[in-house]
Amino acid sequence: MALERTFSIIKPDATRRNLTGAVNAMIEAAGLRIVAQKRVHMTRAQAETFYGVHKERPFFGELVDFMISEPVVVQVLEGEGAIAKYRDVMGATNPANAADGTIRKAHALSVGENTVHGSDAPETAAIEIAQFFAGNEIVG
Ligand code: CMP
Repeated sequence: MALERTFSIIKPDATRRNLTGAVNAMIEAAGLRIVAQKRVHMTRAQAETFYGVHKERPFFGELVDFMISEPVVVQVLEGEGAIAKYRDVMGATNPANAADGTIRKAHALSVGENTVHGSDAPETAAIEIAQFFAGNEIVG
C-alpha cells in the first residue's frame, strides 16, 4: 500500500470539549502520523468553500454555522493507505452507526456534531490540504 496523506479537521464540538488531545491519541494509536497541524477559526467563506460540494443539501447552512462556531484543528495525516485508514478510525458519519473503538463512537454528539472530518479520496485530500497548508508547513 502506498504512503498517503489525508486532510483532517477536529471539529468545534471537540475543541469546545477540550478533546483535541484525545482525538490525536486515537489517530496516533492507529499508526497515522500528524505531519501538519494548526488551530484556526474558519471564516464563513472558508467553510462555504470547503463544503461547497454540499451546497444544495438541506443541512448546508447548519453545517457552515457549526464549523465557524468555535475554533477547529486542521491537520495533515500521513501513513500507509492513510485516507481509508483514517475513515476507518473516524467511524460512520452518524455516530449512531459508528463501530466501537472509532473516534465518532467515542466522542461524536450527532450526525452534524460528529467530531472529525477526513478526506474521502486522493483528489479531495490534495484539494483540502492545499486549502489550509502551504507545502513547507507539512513536515513528514
Ligand atoms: P463531514 O465528513 O465533515 O462531511 C460533510 C458533513 O456534513 C458531515 O461530516 C456531517 O457532519 C455533515 N452532515 C451530514 N449529514 C448531515 C445532516 N443530516 N445534518 C447535519 N449535518 C450533516
